[in-house]
Amino acid sequence: MNVAIIGTGYVGLVTGASLALLGNTVKCHDIDQEKVNLLLKGRVPFFEPYLEPIVQEQVTNKRLLFSSNLSTCISDADFIFITVGTPTDQVSGAVNLEYVCKAATSIGKLLTPDKSPVIINKSTVPVGSHKIVQKMIEEGVYQSGNDSVHFAVASNPEFLREGSAIIDFFYPDRIVIGSENTEALARLELLYRPLLDQSFNPPPTIPPRPEGFSQVPLIKVDPISSELIKYASNAFLAMKISFINEIANISDRLGGNIHDISRGIGLDRRIGPHFLKSGLGWGGSCFGKDLKGLVFDANASGYNPRVLTAVLESNSLQRTVPILKLQSYLKSLRGKSIGILGLSFKPDTDDLRDAPSIEIIKKLIDLHAIVKVYDPVAMNHFRANFPSLPIKYANDEYDLVNSLDGLILVTEWDQFTHLDWKTVYDKMKHKVVVDGRNVLDKKGMEAIGFVYYGIGS
Ligand code: UDX
Repeated sequence: MNVAIIGTGYVGLVTGASLALLGNTVKCHDIDQEKVNLLLKGRVPFFEPYLEPIVQEQVTNKRLLFSSNLSTCISDADFIFITVGTPTDQVSGAVNLEYVCKAATSIGKLLTPDKSPVIINKSTVPVGSHKIVQKMIEEGVYQSGNDSVHFAVASNPEFLREGSAIIDFFYPDRIVIGSENTEALARLELLYRPLLDQSFNPPPTIPPRPEGFSQVPLIKVDPISSELIKYASNAFLAMKISFINEIANISDRLGGNIHDISRGIGLDRRIGPHFLKSGLGWGGSCFGKDLKGLVFDANASGYNPRVLTAVLESNSLQRTVPILKLQSYLKSLRGKSIGILGLSFKPDTDDLRDAPSIEIIKKLIDLHAIVKVYDPVAMNHFRANFPSLPIKYANDEYDLVNSLDGLILVTEWDQFTHLDWKTVYDKMKHKVVVDGRNVLDKKGMEAIGFVYYGIGS
């Protein structure tokens, strides 16, 4: 089948490359010619495991094409996926649909009577956006004067985690499609058929089927429910993390062990073991944005969603926890040298969007601490994003810890757990470590002589 992808960001590129690997011809559009040139060479502008080899192979096969010409991309498309950005408006808190609307109108202008594509919104959008997309396409059609065209609108949210996006695409827990048009739903089902088929044989370029993976349920719903499923899924995951963080904070005060508590809770099949790791709070491009989007939509509908609002507040407060722990030992942080291990919002990415490190660093600076940081991949990105922050960038972990008064492990990069902690101990002035992700061995750290603080243990 012929597929067009509008917007080759993270979601668009993963979706386009994966659909090409499934045998479709995929044409990806982006307004950024430099990015298009890079992708035409099979190079991916961000790090995502497995993605670049797939892009390279499919570009060579000519099943994956890139262009800044929208007409080239959509002229013969059976499916047009809109995967452009939907940033949050900093002032109103509303989701900015400008790029989605522009894409929809431009598509509408180029539709022709010989094709009746399904136009699918994959960007995470406020509930009810499918109606706006429909209207904007109609507006484009009207402007083109071509009133004999046919199209259908659908919603198909993505559930791709950074760092696991290829695995999440090929082995999803479910595929959700929403439309008022039953034919559009049937056609989308056909597009996703290889993933729904239990005999699907994964190509060698992707990781093998995870253990225990079985039939993928296809959820066919109305568009509002589809849009709500996306928001609610991320809100629930964020809530689960904030919940365990709260239990960790209580455990800290009462003397429990959060590792055992999480395990004991997660073994209840109604709860499940995932997203029960306590730490410095969730971050990333999705959870905060989607929660705020859902709160905004709920408020606009006249409903005050108290649980969702509390999750946002709790996550923000969680980022102050390591500072309170340092203060309980060092008292004033004025003039104290504090090291930050890890800047990205989670390991294996240089993504800094809503990363807890940012708030923690700013708070330390406000308290007049001297801040030194190290991250194996995100430092250049951090420097570029926050050029005016008065912080020192270390060459490596051991350079970071020299003469420190306190160390906070913010991102659980694997290499941090394998440091020579005895050497770290010798190099630090005050031997206090806040393990913000509970990845270090508390007993081992205390045996070396550290004052060790975990989050809930
Ligand atoms: C998320 C969703 O998982 C994905 O389905 C969605 O479509 C995009 O947003 P992502 O932002 O890549 O994916 O990160 P994820 O792996 O879900 O982690 C989000 C945050 O939660 C990270 O900051 C992580 O450190 C934190 N987290 C996760 C915890 O603090 N504890 C946990 O137990 C799990």
